[in-house]
Amino acid sequence: MPLGETLISESEIRARIRELARELQAALPPGPLHCVVVLKSAIFFAVDLVRSLGREATLGFISAASYGEGTESGGQVRLGLEAAGRVEGRHVFLIDDILDTGHTLLAAREALRGLRPASLRTCVLLDKPSRRRVKIEADHAGFTIEDVFVVGYGLDCAEAYRTLPDIRAYRPDGPDTEEKPG
Ligand code: XMP
Repeated sequence: MPLGETLISESEIRARIRELARELQAALPPGPLHCVVVLKSAIFFAVDLVRSLGREATLGFISAASYGEGTESGGQVRLGLEAAGRVEGRHVFLIDDILDTGHTLLAAREALRGLRPASLRTCVLLDKPSRRRVKIEADHAGFTIEDVFVVGYGLDCAEAYRTLPDIRAYRPDGPDTEEKPG
Protein backbone atom coordinates (compact mmCIF):
# COMPACT_ATOMS: atom_id res chain seq x y z
CA MET A 1 0.00 0.00 0.00
CA PRO A 2 1.26 3.49 -0.80
CA LEU A 3 0.75 5.08 2.61
CA GLY A 4 3.98 6.60 3.86
CA GLU A 5 5.06 8.04 7.19
CA THR A 6 2.98 10.29 9.43
CA LEU A 7 4.01 13.91 8.84
CA ILE A 8 1.59 15.63 11.22
CA SER A 9 -0.12 13.75 14.02
CA GLU A 10 -3.69 14.14 15.18
CA SER A 11 -2.56 15.85 18.39
CA GLU A 12 -0.29 18.26 16.49
CA ILE A 13 -3.23 19.18 14.26
CA ARG A 14 -5.45 19.77 17.29
CA ALA A 15 -2.84 21.95 19.04
CA ARG A 16 -2.16 24.01 15.92
CA ILE A 17 -5.87 24.63 15.37
CA ARG A 18 -6.14 26.00 18.92
CA GLU A 19 -3.23 28.36 18.17
CA LEU A 20 -4.70 29.37 14.81
CA ALA A 21 -8.02 30.16 16.47
CA ARG A 22 -6.25 32.54 18.88
CA GLU A 23 -4.35 34.14 15.96
CA LEU A 24 -7.58 34.53 14.00
CA GLN A 25 -9.53 36.05 16.87
CA ALA A 26 -7.05 38.92 16.79
CA ALA A 27 -6.86 39.18 13.00
CA LEU A 28 -10.49 38.81 11.89
CA PRO A 29 -12.80 41.81 12.04
CA PRO A 30 -15.33 41.75 14.90
CA GLY A 31 -18.87 40.61 14.26
CA PRO A 32 -20.40 37.74 12.35
CA LEU A 33 -18.28 35.85 9.85
CA HIS A 34 -19.23 34.12 6.65
CA CYS A 35 -16.92 31.13 6.33
CA VAL A 36 -16.55 29.77 2.82
CA VAL A 37 -15.07 26.29 2.62
CA VAL A 38 -13.50 24.82 -0.50
CA LEU A 39 -14.99 21.35 -1.07
CA LYS A 40 -14.30 18.66 -0.28
CA SER A 41 -10.95 18.15 1.40
CA ALA A 42 -11.07 21.25 3.62
CA ILE A 43 -14.24 20.17 5.41
CA PHE A 44 -12.55 18.38 8.32
CA PHE A 45 -10.21 21.30 8.97
CA ALA A 46 -12.94 23.91 8.54
CA VAL A 47 -15.32 22.25 11.00
CA ASP A 48 -12.63 22.00 13.68
CA LEU A 49 -11.35 25.52 13.06
CA VAL A 50 -14.72 27.28 12.89
CA ARG A 51 -15.86 25.58 16.11
CA SER A 52 -12.63 26.69 17.81
CA LEU A 53 -13.27 30.29 16.82
CA GLY A 54 -16.30 30.29 19.10
CA ARG A 55 -18.14 33.08 17.34
CA GLU A 56 -21.19 33.54 15.22
CA ALA A 57 -20.54 32.24 11.72
CA THR A 58 -22.48 31.20 8.67
CA LEU A 59 -21.17 28.64 6.20
CA GLY A 60 -20.86 28.57 2.45
CA PHE A 61 -19.11 26.18 0.12
CA ILE A 62 -17.35 26.37 -3.19
CA SER A 63 -16.30 23.47 -5.34
CA ALA A 64 -13.00 23.58 -7.14
CA ALA A 65 -11.75 21.02 -9.58
CA SER A 66 -8.23 21.02 -10.91
CA TYR A 67 -6.97 17.57 -9.95
CA GLY A 68 -8.18 14.40 -11.64
CA GLU A 69 -7.58 10.99 -10.18
CA GLY A 70 -3.83 11.53 -9.92
CA THR A 71 -1.56 13.83 -7.94
CA GLU A 72 -0.68 16.58 -10.45
CA SER A 73 -2.51 19.88 -10.91
CA GLY A 74 -3.59 20.92 -14.39
CA GLY A 75 -3.51 24.66 -13.62
CA GLN A 76 -7.08 25.10 -14.87
CA VAL A 77 -9.53 25.54 -12.01
CA ARG A 78 -13.27 25.06 -12.43
CA LEU A 79 -15.15 26.78 -9.62
CA GLY A 80 -18.73 26.21 -8.52
CA LEU A 81 -20.10 29.15 -6.55
CA GLU A 82 -23.76 28.08 -6.26
CA ALA A 83 -23.47 27.19 -2.56
CA ALA A 84 -21.13 30.06 -1.57
CA GLY A 85 -23.92 31.90 0.24
CA ARG A 86 -24.35 35.66 0.35
CA VAL A 87 -20.93 37.32 0.17
CA GLU A 88 -21.63 40.95 -0.64
CA GLY A 89 -20.98 43.29 2.28
CA ARG A 90 -19.98 40.50 4.67
CA HIS A 91 -16.76 39.57 6.45
CA VAL A 92 -15.72 36.49 4.51
CA PHE A 93 -13.24 33.89 5.71
CA LEU A 94 -12.08 31.51 2.97
CA ILE A 95 -10.81 28.13 4.17
CA ASP A 96 -8.94 25.59 2.03
CA ASP A 97 -6.98 22.44 2.77
CA ILE A 98 -3.67 23.02 1.02
CA LEU A 99 -1.92 25.75 -0.90
CA ASP A 100 0.13 23.97 -3.52
CA THR A 101 0.65 25.55 -6.94
CA GLY A 102 -1.71 28.33 -5.79
CA HIS A 103 -4.12 28.13 -8.73
CA THR A 104 -7.08 27.04 -6.60
CA LEU A 105 -6.77 29.60 -3.80
CA LEU A 106 -6.09 32.36 -6.29
CA ALA A 107 -9.17 31.49 -8.37
CA ALA A 108 -11.37 31.12 -5.27
CA ARG A 109 -10.15 34.35 -3.67
CA GLU A 110 -10.60 36.36 -6.87
CA ALA A 111 -14.07 34.92 -7.47
CA LEU A 112 -15.14 35.90 -3.95
CA ARG A 113 -13.57 39.34 -4.31
CA GLY A 114 -15.73 39.80 -7.39
CA LEU A 115 -18.78 39.32 -5.16
CA ARG A 116 -17.75 42.40 -3.11
CA PRO A 117 -17.32 41.19 0.49
CA ALA A 118 -16.74 43.78 3.24
CA SER A 119 -13.46 41.98 3.97
CA LEU A 120 -11.82 38.75 2.90
CA ARG A 121 -9.18 36.67 4.69
CA THR A 122 -7.80 33.31 3.66
CA CYS A 123 -6.61 30.35 5.70
CA VAL A 124 -5.15 26.99 4.66
CA LEU A 125 -4.25 24.00 6.77
CA LEU A 126 -1.11 23.21 4.77
CA ASP A 127 1.27 25.28 2.70
CA LYS A 128 3.74 23.81 0.19
CA PRO A 129 5.66 26.94 -0.86
CA SER A 130 8.17 25.04 -3.01
CA ARG A 131 5.38 24.06 -5.41
CA ARG A 132 4.01 27.56 -6.01
CA ARG A 133 3.36 28.48 -9.65
CA VAL A 134 1.36 31.68 -9.11
CA LYS A 135 1.95 34.58 -6.74
CA ILE A 136 -0.27 34.05 -3.72
CA GLU A 137 0.11 33.51 0.02
CA ALA A 138 -2.61 32.59 2.49
CA ASP A 139 -3.21 35.13 5.26
CA HIS A 140 -3.01 32.24 7.75
CA ALA A 141 -1.54 28.75 7.41
CA GLY A 142 -1.43 25.81 9.78
CA PHE A 143 1.75 24.02 8.69
CA THR A 144 4.40 24.47 6.04
CA ILE A 145 5.36 21.14 4.43
CA GLU A 146 7.87 19.85 1.90
CA ASP A 147 6.98 18.85 -1.64
CA VAL A 148 5.30 15.55 -0.85
CA PHE A 149 1.77 14.49 -1.70
CA VAL A 150 -0.19 14.09 1.52
CA VAL A 151 -3.41 12.37 2.53
CA GLY A 152 -5.55 12.15 5.65
CA TYR A 153 -7.62 14.56 7.76
CA GLY A 154 -9.84 15.26 4.76
CA LEU A 155 -7.16 15.08 2.07
CA ASP A 156 -7.55 12.26 -0.41
CA CYS A 157 -6.04 10.48 -3.32
CA ALA A 158 -8.83 9.53 -5.72
CA GLU A 159 -11.25 9.74 -2.74
CA ALA A 160 -9.26 7.32 -0.54
CA TYR A 161 -7.65 8.05 2.87
CA ARG A 162 -9.80 11.09 3.81
CA THR A 163 -10.78 9.64 7.17
CA LEU A 164 -7.26 9.00 8.44
CA PRO A 165 -6.92 11.02 11.67
CA ASP A 166 -3.46 12.37 10.88
CA ILE A 167 -1.65 13.64 7.81
CA ARG A 168 0.55 11.13 6.05
CA ALA A 169 2.82 11.08 3.05
CA TYR A 170 1.44 9.28 0.02
CA ARG A 171 4.21 7.40 -1.74
CA PRO A 172 2.96 5.14 -4.52
CA ASP A 173 6.46 3.79 -5.13
CA GLY A 174 7.79 3.94 -1.56
CA PRO A 175 8.30 1.18 1.00
CA ASP A 176 5.19 -0.18 2.65
CA THR A 177 4.85 1.48 6.07
CA GLU A 178 1.19 0.67 6.60
CA GLU A 179 0.42 -1.19 9.83
CA LYS A 180 -0.82 -4.69 9.22
CA PRO A 181 -3.43 -6.24 11.50
CA GLY A 182 -2.19 -9.00 13.80
P1 XMP B 1 -3.26 24.10 -6.11
O1 XMP B 1 -2.17 23.42 -6.89
O2 XMP B 1 -4.32 24.67 -7.00
O3 XMP B 1 -3.90 22.88 -5.37
O4 XMP B 1 -2.74 25.04 -5.07
C1 XMP B 1 -4.82 23.01 -4.41
C2 XMP B 1 -5.67 21.78 -4.38
O5 XMP B 1 -5.00 20.61 -4.88
C3 XMP B 1 -5.17 19.53 -4.03
N1 XMP B 1 -3.85 19.12 -3.51
C4 XMP B 1 -3.64 18.06 -2.75
N2 XMP B 1 -4.50 17.14 -2.29
N3 XMP B 1 -2.71 16.06 -1.18
C5 XMP B 1 -4.03 16.13 -1.50
O6 XMP B 1 -4.79 15.28 -1.06
C6 XMP B 1 -1.79 16.95 -1.61
O7 XMP B 1 -0.61 16.83 -1.28
C7 XMP B 1 -2.29 18.01 -2.44
N4 XMP B 1 -1.68 19.05 -3.05
C8 XMP B 1 -2.67 19.72 -3.68
C9 XMP B 1 -6.08 20.02 -2.93
O8 XMP B 1 -7.39 19.63 -3.19
C10 XMP B 1 -5.96 21.50 -2.95
O9 XMP B 1 -7.13 22.19 -2.53
